[in-house]
Amino acid sequence: MNYILQADDVYFRYEDGTTALQGVTLKIEEGKKTVLLGGNGAGKSTLFLHFNGIYRPHRGTVLFNGEEIQYKNSFLKHLRKNIGVVFQDPDTQLFSANVYQDVSFGPINLGLSEEEVKTRVIDAMKETGVKHLSKKPTHLLSYGEKKRAAIAGVLAMKPKLIVFDEPTAWLDPAGYRQIVKLIEDINRQGKTVVLSTHDVDLAYSWADLVIVMKEGKVIGQGTPQEIFQNNRLLSEASLVKPWLLEVYDKLVAQGWLNRSAAPPANKGELYKLLGDNQPPKP
Ligand SMILES: Nc1ncnc2c1ncn2[C@@H]1O[C@H](COP(=O)(O)OP(=O)(O)OP(=O)(O)O)[C@@H](O)[C@H]1O
Ligand SMILES: [Mg+2]
Repeated sequence: MNYILQADDVYFRYEDGTTALQGVTLKIEEGKKTVLLGGNGAGKSTLFLHFNGIYRPHRGTVLFNGEEIQYKNSFLKHLRKNIGVVFQDPDTQLFSANVYQDVSFGPINLGLSEEEVKTRVIDAMKETGVKHLSKKPTHLLSYGEKKRAAIAGVLAMKPKLIVFDEPTAWLDPAGYRQIVKLIEDINRQGKTVVLSTHDVDLAYSWADLVIVMKEGKVIGQGTPQEIFQNNRLLSEASLVKPWLLEVYDKLVAQGWLNRSAAPPANKGELYKLLGDNQPPKP
């Protein structure tokens, strides 16, 4: 197994004295989809800002491809070329006058040729569906458009791993599906994806690995099946069960399904389970 990113006993304290991370240890496997769950203030965004070296741990280390991050310009440049972070708030990410300029900022800084920059920017804008907005001032974009423009800026860097901090928050149903599909496509192209969310249904049906945080610590990790069937952990982290599992539990309790049937990973599997199982005789 190749771990592209690791945090080893990471502690971080903000200037006002808030201890946001208290010994976080985790490993992100290359090519996989990892979801970070945790309530407000659990430390997810703070941890993400350690992944590309914006924050430096007060204690502990962050490793990229097995190598400890060095907080000097040359290493940070190398790190940020490989690890892109899509911030929770797109207004923090977008700062250029228009979309095209914003998306091209990163590639220009990599010192690429004008031709290569143009190709990357156009490809990234197409992939995220913002090409028609290329001349539009970023401050006039809708929230969903801002999110996609911010993702385009990260994609144009062609990183190996992309971190998405609550990518689906505040989106309408169409925008939600569009972003989830985009992240799925990005992963299918071979990139490692890490995202934080409060959406347990997304985490359950989408993640390879789920990591649960609370009060600056990792309190659980495992496959979605392991995490969401662990009632003690769910209650400790104040998480609710994904609706699919709730329905599955109910169907098992009422005798419509046999517990030996593996819980459905998605809606399609649930329907299949129902079709394959005869209701109990009265
Ligand atoms: N710039 C800051 N200065 C001081 N404290 C901060 C700062 N940013 C975050 N914190 C504190 O650090 C802790 C962790 O916050 P963080 O934003 O990392 O949590 P989170 O898990 O991303 O939460 P959310 O789900 O609300 O986005 C919180 O207690 C928060 O108040
Ligand atoms: Mg956050």
